[in-house]
Amino acid sequence: MKRAFPRVGTSRAATAICSLAMVAAAVTALAASASALSRPSVHHTVSISTRSFGTVAGQPVDLYTLSNGHMRVNITNYGGIVQAIYVPDRFGRMANVALGFRNLAGYVKNDVYPQPSGGSGTTYFGATIGRYANRIANGSFTLNGHTYTLPQNNGTNTLHGGPNAWNTKVWTATPSVKPGSASLKLTYTSPDGENGFPGTVVASVTYTLDTSNRLHIQYHAVTSAPTVINLTNHTYFNLAGEGSGSVRAQKLMINASHYTPINANLIPTGVVAPVAGTPLDFRTMKPIGRDINSGFNQLVLAHGFDHNWVINRSGPGLVLAARALDPASGRELTTLTTEPGVQFYSGNFLAGELVGTSGRTYRQTDGFTLETQHYPNSPNQPNFPSTVLNPGQSFNSTTIYAFSIG
Ligand code: BGC
Repeated sequence: MKRAFPRVGTSRAATAICSLAMVAAAVTALAASASALSRPSVHHTVSISTRSFGTVAGQPVDLYTLSNGHMRVNITNYGGIVQAIYVPDRFGRMANVALGFRNLAGYVKNDVYPQPSGGSGTTYFGATIGRYANRIANGSFTLNGHTYTLPQNNGTNTLHGGPNAWNTKVWTATPSVKPGSASLKLTYTSPDGENGFPGTVVASVTYTLDTSNRLHIQYHAVTSAPTVINLTNHTYFNLAGEGSGSVRAQKLMINASHYTPINANLIPTGVVAPVAGTPLDFRTMKPIGRDINSGFNQLVLAHGFDHNWVINRSGPGLVLAARALDPASGRELTTLTTEPGVQFYSGNFLAGELVGTSGRTYRQTDGFTLETQHYPNSPNQPNFPSTVLNPGQSFNSTTIYAFSIG
């Protein structure tokens, strides 16, 4: 049964904890940056505040905090990254449920390509992924009779748009507040030929936090020439709090009767297979760890779950993609999307050397992603929903991460 968060202020203990957390956060921000938290623009209970997050290649980068009085979300215009999501548990105790780094340098260092071997590689914590989320096989695709060659940054694959992709760009930020919601619009112009992709693409991602604890993510893109596009957000969730250990006991439901099996390069074979009778059957909530050690070949290939589920839908529009629950804290995450697929990735390649926001390391299964998307390698799979974007069309996509107490 889904419940709203306990009201901040209904219990003395919760009020005290929240106030202390807010004071601590403000003190940390003051200490971390000479430019203190700016005066927040407040409209009813929602607000956005801004502070400097440093510079990258001489460009200033900010950290924006969207708050609704119950929860708050930190987003930086470097890579459109969701840096932290603070939500209460059933007793009103706050935790940051998004894996990430404490400062900009952490992200920039992890985005450098190539990463040292033996480590976690580029993790894309919280990032906006473009121009093409997930993998394109052999760094190549053909569109309108022309073959495009892309840099390969994942074995022979192009992963998440290739090296130095949209997750590393400084986006132009426009914050706004209106009754009931706080928004941050980020825009980026991807030049024609960037990482081998054709067409200049003007893209925006708008994050909106509403008073019902929903984080809306709206993508919009237009192109000057035919291209392919697949955009997602790469937040790793741990509903017990980032750095608290494995998510194996957290429960997950994925609203999908089918998935796209992969080959040894983690590229879909092109088959759309039923989940029934496999460890990938999440139609009924089950702990993430229940079947993860199964010898089922698909899990062997991916070192765990790292697959595209085909979301059950009867037409276009927003539908339920997944629901995750931490039984211990009661924190629940419901994911809705207009996209046809969702990549559930169980943090298989987290190797234990990255020190996260709370000063603790991240190891395999310490977080999970629910990356709403078109299917991986669609440009090379004519039977998958098309990812082609033509001039005159616009790409529009919405995903909602909604937080509640389960
Ligand atoms: C991919 C994983 C990859 C991770 C980090 C996910 O979207 O499916 O295979 O390791 O991103 O790059």
